[in-house]
Amino acid sequence: MQTINDLASLRNSLKMLRASKGSIALVPTMGALHAGHMKLIDEAQKLGGAVIASIFVNPAQFGPNEDLDAYPRTLERDAQMLSDAGVDLLWAPNASEIYPTGFSTSIHMQGLSDLHCGAARPGHFDGVALIVAKLFNQVAPDAAFFGEKDFQQLAVIRQMARDLDFPLEIVGVPIVRDADGLALSSRNAYLTGEQRVAALALPNALKNAAAQIANGAVVADILSAAVADMLAAGFASVDYFSLVDAATLAPIAHRQNGPARLLAAARMGKTRLIDNLAI
Ligand code: PAF
Repeated sequence: MQTINDLASLRNSLKMLRASKGSIALVPTMGALHAGHMKLIDEAQKLGGAVIASIFVNPAQFGPNEDLDAYPRTLERDAQMLSDAGVDLLWAPNASEIYPTGFSTSIHMQGLSDLHCGAARPGHFDGVALIVAKLFNQVAPDAAFFGEKDFQQLAVIRQMARDLDFPLEIVGVPIVRDADGLALSSRNAYLTGEQRVAALALPNALKNAAAQIANGAVVADILSAAVADMLAAGFASVDYFSLVDAATLAPIAHRQNGPARLLAAARMGKTRLIDNLAI
C-alpha cells in the first residue's frame, strides 16, 4: 500500500490506479481505526476496483471547546491495518493540502445540518461538508463509503453531493457493534471501564424504545422514558433522543408508514456518544 501526503503524487497514483483497476472507491476517515472502519473497507472492496482510504483529523468540524487536540492519532497502526486489509492507497494529506495558507472558502448547509447534532455542535456539519467536498475533488471517486453510526452525517453528505453535482455513489454501511451492543466509535477509547459499562444504556434505550414504538406506544412518552433511563444509568446529559423520518431527519411525533429512525446523542462524563436504530 502506498501512503501519500501531497496532492501532486496523489493525482499521479490515482491515474495509474484508475487505468489498472477501472474504478476508485474512497473511504474517508479521521483515523483511530476500528472494526467499523474496516467494514467500510470490506464493502468498498466489493466494488472490485481500487480502494483509497483517507485519514485527516479535520479541525473545521470541531468546535472551540471540543476534543480536536485529544482526538486519538494512530497513523502508523492505522496504515498497517489498511495495508493488511489490501487497501491500495492511503491518502494522509499534509494539512497544507487541505487548508493552504489563505484558504477562505466555506460550505454552509441549511436545514438538515441545523438539527440534532447540528444544534448541539454548531458549524460541525459545515466542516464535514467542506472536508468531504475537498476529498471528493482530490480523489474523484466513483463511490464513497460512510458508516450509518453517523446517520445525520451520511444524510448531510448525500445532500451536499446532490446539491454540488458530485458524480459519485454515496454508500451507507450499517453500524458495527461490540458483542454487548455498544456501537464502535473512535471516541469509545475515552471511556473509563465503569463508563464503558454504563454507556450500554444508550443502545439499550434505543432497542427498548424501538420495540415499544413499533408496538404502537405513545412516542413522546417513550422518548422521555428513554432519556430518564439513560440519565439514571449514569449519562451526564442527553443532547437529544428523537424519532425522525429516515429520509429528511425531521422529527416525527407518531409512527408513520415510511422508514423511521431513532437518533440519540448523550454525554458519558466528557465523552459524547451517538447511536441510532431503524424502526
Ligand atoms: O466520520 C468521520 O470520520 C469524519 O467526519 C469524516 C467523514 C472522515 C470527515 O472528516
